[in-house]
Amino acid sequence: MRDLIICCLLLCAAAVPAGAQTQTVQQRLPVCLACHGADGQSQTAGVPSLGAQQSFYTTVQLLMFRERMRVAEPMNEMAKGLSDDDLRSFADIIAKLLAPQPPAGPVDDARMARARALVEQNRCNFCHTPTFAGQDNVPRIADQREEYLVKALRGYKDNSRHGYDATMADVVAPITDAQILDLAYYIARLK
Ligand code: HEC
Ligand code: HEC
Repeated sequence: MRDLIICCLLLCAAAVPAGAQTQTVQQRLPVCLACHGADGQSQTAGVPSLGAQQSFYTTVQLLMFRERMRVAEPMNEMAKGLSDDDLRSFADIIAKLLAPQPPAGPVDDARMARARALVEQNRCNFCHTPTFAGQDNVPRIADQREEYLVKALRGYKDNSRHGYDATMADVVAPITDAQILDLAYYIARLK
């Protein structure tokens, strides 16, 4: 009898919470990737690529969507009801998707050079790392979609996007809109 109770306790602990959550995440994942791109690269304007994103950054952002600290359609609805474990599971899966690739086609060298100077001046490559792969709570931005990068940077600047802390608001404060366009052009085309 005692063995049976222990066995049941073990089963309940192992199967019920962990099993139910894994299934939820696995069931919901195709919906996420229909928008964000199954191979980590988004084909949809306004929807960011998620491939190889830093797991900790993703966890924090999903938490912020859930708590409406970051307000953006449709993500507040998408994150509703997810447990903290769900957020971490999504983040771990997303981190293992392939990193996005730059678009094909000719590149405006003068623009790239202008942006490189801005990157040095504003130390983007210090926090986001020299390859822009990010680290911990600092996101990968290398080869992210250009129009999403513009939206993100404008959002920090006009305060419509609140970061987990004020870091990016401080970074973009002295940056002009023309510079934002050059920075996004460059980061979206990193080789
Ligand atoms: C209908 C399309 C759609 C679906 C479905 C969707 N997303 Fe999103 N997601 C978006 C858009 C659009 C944004 C960008 C919001 C913004 O402009 O800030 C986004 C942003 C994100 C971000 C933030 C990325 C970053 O770089 O900051 C994460 C993480 C994310 N989604 C994960 C998920 C997960 C996990 C799911 C499934 C539970 C999901 N998304 C479902 C459209 C979608
Ligand atoms: C002091 C460190 C630091 C510096 C310098 C910095 N960043 Fe960031 N960046 C961050 C952090 C932390 C976040 C996540 C903020 C949040 O929670 O939204 C971020 C977020 C971003 C995002 C949003 C990415 C996404 O997926 O939504 C973009 C784009 C970005 N940074 C671009 C830049 C550019 C361009 C520069 C240089 C002009 C720069 N950053 C400089 C730390 C930094």
